[in-house]
Amino acid sequence: MRTLPDLRRAQYAEEHPLGHPLEPRRSGPLVLVVEDEASNRLLLTRILEREGYRAVSVADGDSALRAIPEHDPDLVLLDVTMPRMDGYEVCRRLRKDSRTATLPVILISGRTDLNDIVAGLDAGADDFVTKPFQQPELLARIRSAFRLRQAITRMETAHTVAAALANAVEAKDPMTEHHCQRLAHLAARVGTRAGLDTIDLEGVAYGALLHDVGKIGVPEAFLNKPGPLTEEEQTVMRRHPEIGERICRPLEASPTLLPIVRHHHEHWDGSGYPDGLRGEQTPLGARIVSLVDAFDAMTHDRPYRAALPVEQGLDELVRHAGRQFDPDLVPLLLDEIERRGAAFVPVTTFPPTALLVHGRGGGVMERPGSSSIRAGAA
Ligand SMILES: [Fe+2]
Repeated sequence: MRTLPDLRRAQYAEEHPLGHPLEPRRSGPLVLVVEDEASNRLLLTRILEREGYRAVSVADGDSALRAIPEHDPDLVLLDVTMPRMDGYEVCRRLRKDSRTATLPVILISGRTDLNDIVAGLDAGADDFVTKPFQQPELLARIRSAFRLRQAITRMETAHTVAAALANAVEAKDPMTEHHCQRLAHLAARVGTRAGLDTIDLEGVAYGALLHDVGKIGVPEAFLNKPGPLTEEEQTVMRRHPEIGERICRPLEASPTLLPIVRHHHEHWDGSGYPDGLRGEQTPLGARIVSLVDAFDAMTHDRPYRAALPVEQGLDELVRHAGRQFDPDLVPLLLDEIERRGAAFVPVTTFPPTALLVHGRGGGVMERPGSSSIRAGAA
């Protein structure tokens, strides 16, 4: 015998053969359908729900812009031709807003002209499906957009992990506050002058940011000791490049990052550690970080000594060129400091900048009165 709720369900199903479009299912990624034609809206919603997506649908651009903050969809299927605000304009507005700048958007349109497709991509759409669409094609495009989004999320996660690790080191060693962030910027500036491409520059910036992450494994008492370290303490301290290499190995950026973390204390003449590499045996990224690390350490206060003036720090670098430092890199750093100063200068053309600017403390500031430096980063 049918109960009252059964009868209500049956009656509802009869009245709404395609299900209720505004009643989202409770699992799967959420897709916002923006389409002014009711029959298309219902069809798209049904296709999506059959595939295990949740769907919310609206009939125009204004409603879409209101629905996004409310429902936080994972993807938007956006009709191009709609009254008042068309799909291109909705897409442009989504791209302008930092909260929706990377939200996957697939445009759906009856217009098949190449100019229309180009206009859609120019507006910031991830993909373009023409009406009438084939269901398997539409679903394949949706899966592809989700894969792209996941890849971006993984990259964002890697940035967050790198920032968290860098902050962990600085928290343990407060005298080096912002040291790693300053270094990342200065290393990128020198790397640019050395002609590195974007990918290598990114590796150098991450390498600089994380070069001392192995200090997580060094006792705080050694890091904050006001006097010189004993021989035993020095042995422990000198293990930090290898510890850092082990910590960073699981990071996706590790191929460019690890050589910098491991070799940032090698010397041009082979007297450094941990491997005693000589000259160009040390990877270029590690030679850059070694140079800017020493410069930054010399021109900022440490528990065991006061900061040197910038000019004196630069003199020290020149004195150690060809011994501790790559003699071809030293003039690049000198020139960079002469032209643009030693203070933090943001480099806006590659991703780590955003990470660095938004890192702990909300920005990278030179310490007041720190117009200065000595050759010997810890
Ligand atoms: Fe170090």
